[in-house]
Amino acid sequence: MVDLSTNLSGLILTNPIIAASGTFGFGKEFASFYDVNILGSFCTKGMTYLPRLGNPQPRIAECKAGMLNSIGLTNNGAEHIARHEFLEIKNYFKKPVIANVCGFTKEEYITNAKLADESPTVGLIELNVSCPNVKQGGIGFGTQTNILFDLVKAVKNAVKKPVYVKLTPNVTDIKPLALSCEDAGADGLCLINTLLGARIDIKTRKFILANKYGGYSGQGIFPVAVRMVNEAFNCVKIPIIGLGGISSAADTLEMMMAGARAVQIGTANIIDPFACKKIVEELPILCQKLGINKISEIIGIAK
Ligand SMILES: Cc1cc2nc3c(=O)[nH]c(=O)nc-3n(C[C@H](O)[C@H](O)[C@H](O)COP(=O)(O)O)c2cc1C
Repeated sequence: MVDLSTNLSGLILTNPIIAASGTFGFGKEFASFYDVNILGSFCTKGMTYLPRLGNPQPRIAECKAGMLNSIGLTNNGAEHIARHEFLEIKNYFKKPVIANVCGFTKEEYITNAKLADESPTVGLIELNVSCPNVKQGGIGFGTQTNILFDLVKAVKNAVKKPVYVKLTPNVTDIKPLALSCEDAGADGLCLINTLLGARIDIKTRKFILANKYGGYSGQGIFPVAVRMVNEAFNCVKIPIIGLGGISSAADTLEMMMAGARAVQIGTANIIDPFACKKIVEELPILCQKLGINKISEIIGIAK
């Protein structure tokens, strides 16, 4: 039997397949399609302190090899999520989940991360640093090494659970940012978030998204994600969760060979609600075919 287990800073997953934030809700809808306990884990929708309706419609645009979204972090607010959604998860998922934490100030990140830290449902905190810093003119937390270092250090000092930083790919060079997270005490990294993009309707001559620009995700971004995960893997020692365009067991192995210790599946869940289930089922069969007995042995093996 193939050993698919993987270790994320002490959180042992039975397999490396994690459903990605924003594409799996709080798991409840998917639990009505299949037993979600077959997953290594899943990552909850990003939470801000105040509830958010998100951006104006339209906020989804289809693309040839993926999709563009400008959802804008629609969520019920961190207090509500900690008191209701996190507790309800226990009814259909028996493993620890990953809580995706957002914020518009450092203080807000700390408050939200503490709420996640106190929840027994949460095994690991994922900091989504793609949010704009309202105190510093809206510049993304994840785009400048000093701002990122300061944020990660502050959150690490405030919580006990492992903190993984989810990096944005919308930067010139991912390496100094990955190093800043490691230096600030991050337990791991998670990459990549969506790539900034836009679509235009040539008949109306208008941008399709009401917000004009949005995040591009899905199969088209896979090679970019593989490259960025490998760049991060080559410069830090902390574990990496790889994501971006993964839609099969073969993609999972490729991402792990680039340096990921686990993977997340995002847009594929929106295209096919059974995507994660299929990958979990295909993975041991493909490993056997390729002579992989222990999946953790292939992490970063690509030459
Ligand atoms: C509709 C939608 C909502 C998303 N919401 C979040 C979110 O709340 N927090 C976050 O960190 N990433 C969010 N993401 C980004 C995904 O988690 C993931 O990083 C990205 O889509 C790349 O992976 P994929 O190509 O497998 O989708 C969202 C993506 C989509 C498509």
